Amino acid sequence: MYKILVFISACVSFALTYKPVVLLHGILTGSQTMEIIKNRIEEKHPGTIIYNIDRFEGWSSLDNMWYQVSQLSENLNNITSIHPSGVHLLGYSQGALLARTMLQANINHSVHNFISLSGPQAGQYGTQFLHLYFPGLALETAFELFYSRVGQHTSVGNYWNDPYHNKLYLKYSNYLPYVNNEILSNKSDEFKAALLKLKNMVLIGGPDDNVITPWQSSQFGFFDSNGTVINMMQRDIYTEDKIGLKTLYEKKKLKVVTVPGINHFQWHLNVSIVDNYILPYLD
Ligand SMILES: *[C@@H]1O[C@H](CO)[C@@H](O)[C@H](O)[C@H]1NC(C)=O
Ligand SMILES: *[C@@H]1O[C@H](CO)[C@@H](O)[C@H](O)[C@H]1NC(C)=O
Ligand SMILES: *[C@@H]1O[C@H](CO)[C@@H](O)[C@H](O)[C@H]1NC(C)=O
Ligand SMILES: *[C@@H]1O[C@H](CO)[C@@H](O)[C@H](O)[C@H]1NC(C)=O
Ligand SMILES: *[C@@H]1O[C@H](CO)[C@@H](O)[C@H](O)[C@H]1NC(C)=O
Repeated sequence: MYKILVFISACVSFALTYKPVVLLHGILTGSQTMEIIKNRIEEKHPGTIIYNIDRFEGWSSLDNMWYQVSQLSENLNNITSIHPSGVHLLGYSQGALLARTMLQANINHSVHNFISLSGPQAGQYGTQFLHLYFPGLALETAFELFYSRVGQHTSVGNYWNDPYHNKLYLKYSNYLPYVNNEILSNKSDEFKAALLKLKNMVLIGGPDDNVITPWQSSQFGFFDSNGTVINMMQRDIYTEDKIGLKTLYEKKKLKVVTVPGINHFQWHLNVSIVDNYILPYLD
């Protein structure tokens, strides 16, 4: 009897042990905007330890992406050193792109599942997004600012992807073409290998986002040079397996989740998104 009880309680406590979750907020906001996700996870998965990163909030979220990645990597490494058996990582909006790069820049990360909640993974090119943060800039000429040394000091410039000025993008952008292995560097192999370590990569986005443009960028789709949206699976980044997306897909580790009816500023505030699309990946 005693042995059975010990066995049962061991099973129960095993089942109740969820991996810690690291959350990273979006641009010009802070960790507070991630509290709904945090609270819902704690409610549905009691006992989960959650690290809701509160750095680079507000204006400092506009800092250069590489600078943020290097600083935030310290947080991630500190967290995973306390939890060697692994954690899950979720980023929202710009935080989803930062989070992905934190993995790529740390080949020894111990993140199991990475959840990208409406992140501009293939870049951003749209008026609505632009005017939220740079109301005075015109879409057609924004590249003149962003594709310059000064423009590269800001996060948005780092992932601004103007399909009509691809040569300038490749010449000036010191971030996105590298993390997407469009330009090869001595880091390219690690950038890919680090993502291949994931158990799951979950790309959540949807057609009613209205900020990420094209919305398919949340799933690695983007405009071609004529402004036509090409889905991830027809783009080089996938067909040539530049960062491991194809391999992950073939191993059933890449989950592409499209949810209609959700505005960009609702993804992280809607508990049914947490319940239906996030919790299933937090074991
Ligand atoms: C990471 O841990 C080191 C050593 O404990 C500490 O000095 C440092 O401040 C921590 N960094 C962050 C960002 O938490
Ligand atoms: C990653 O881990 C391997 C094996 O433990 C080690 O050889 C390598 O130096 C580590 N790399 C970094 C960047 O820490
Ligand atoms: C990798 O490339 C960077 C930038 O070109 C350079 O500074 C660095 O020395 C290179 N590292 C190695 C190990 O070749
Ligand atoms: C762009 O449009 C032109 C003319 O319709 C076509 O020839 C070309 O193949 C298109 N290029 C791309 C990348 O779709
Ligand atoms: C919350 O998400 C569900 C789909 O999971 C959707 O039906 C509902 O309209 C959303 N609510 C808001 C306010 O966006």
